[in-house]
Amino acid sequence: MSRFDLTGDVALVVGAGPGGLGERAAQALAAHGATVVRADVHGDGLLHVDVTDEASVKSLVATVLEQHGRIDILVNAAGVMLRKAYDETTVAEFEHVVRVNLTGSWLLAREVAPAMRDTGRIVTLSTVYAERVGPIPESAYYASKAGVANVTRALAAELGPRGITVNCLAPGVFYPTKMTAALGADPDRLQWFSDRTMLGRLGDPATDFAGPLLFLASSASSYVTGQVLYVDGGWSAW
Ligand SMILES: NC(=O)c1ccc[n+]([C@@H]2O[C@H](COP(=O)([O-])OP(=O)(O)OC[C@H]3O[C@@H](n4cnc5c(N)ncnc54)[C@H](O)[C@@H]3O)[C@@H](O)[C@H]2O)c1
Repeated sequence: MSRFDLTGDVALVVGAGPGGLGERAAQALAAHGATVVRADVHGDGLLHVDVTDEASVKSLVATVLEQHGRIDILVNAAGVMLRKAYDETTVAEFEHVVRVNLTGSWLLAREVAPAMRDTGRIVTLSTVYAERVGPIPESAYYASKAGVANVTRALAAELGPRGITVNCLAPGVFYPTKMTAALGADPDRLQWFSDRTMLGRLGDPATDFAGPLLFLASSASSYVTGQVLYVDGGWSAW
């Protein structure tokens, strides 16, 4: 268990607004002893950050360092999804999704990594569709999340010599979160997602996310970097 002990570590969780996987990550890290700073573009009582805005990200990192003196763990759960056919998606919409999901992941890492010590851990969020696509039209989302997987590997390569690990969690459908709540109106779709997994069920944000997140955020994964860990009930293994 000591490999999962985060006492003394400062964790910055971005996209940690209420009801999402970022909030679950923050809770899990705190439960294992970390001092956790939560940030989001929305949400009372959280630090404000817009990951599409370079100045906002720089200001967030400066604030955390001013208040806590260090950042040991960065988890980026900020993300947006756009469910739209490719020929109905505007350039501005496409670029916004890429800007939040992909550019934001890279930018946060670029700003936080210089402050990290040689045990720093960075965790990004892709999706089960990191290396494939699904039947729902979401070209901007798929493209951005494939980018997250590969920028994770690229950052791992560049930060490896400093001892910092960079890994990516690739969830299947975790329900409910703000992003997936609307699926409640489409039971057939939810059933299709469940059937698509080997375990025959959706991911439970309350129980299925913390373990893999803690693994990648702690010294339990000290020799793991540049990896995409699928947390998808077996979806990607068929
Ligand atoms: N829930 C799932 O089934 C699922 C599956 C695969 C991947 N993911 C990924 O996990 C991450 C978290 O998803 P979730 O389901 O918790 O969704 P969510 O919508 O509950 O959480 C995403 C958070 O990101 C924040 N955010 C959006 N734009 C931002 C910006 N510009 N700057 C800062 N914060 C911003 C939102 O306010 C929200 O709190 C996302 O990257 C998502 O793509 C989720």
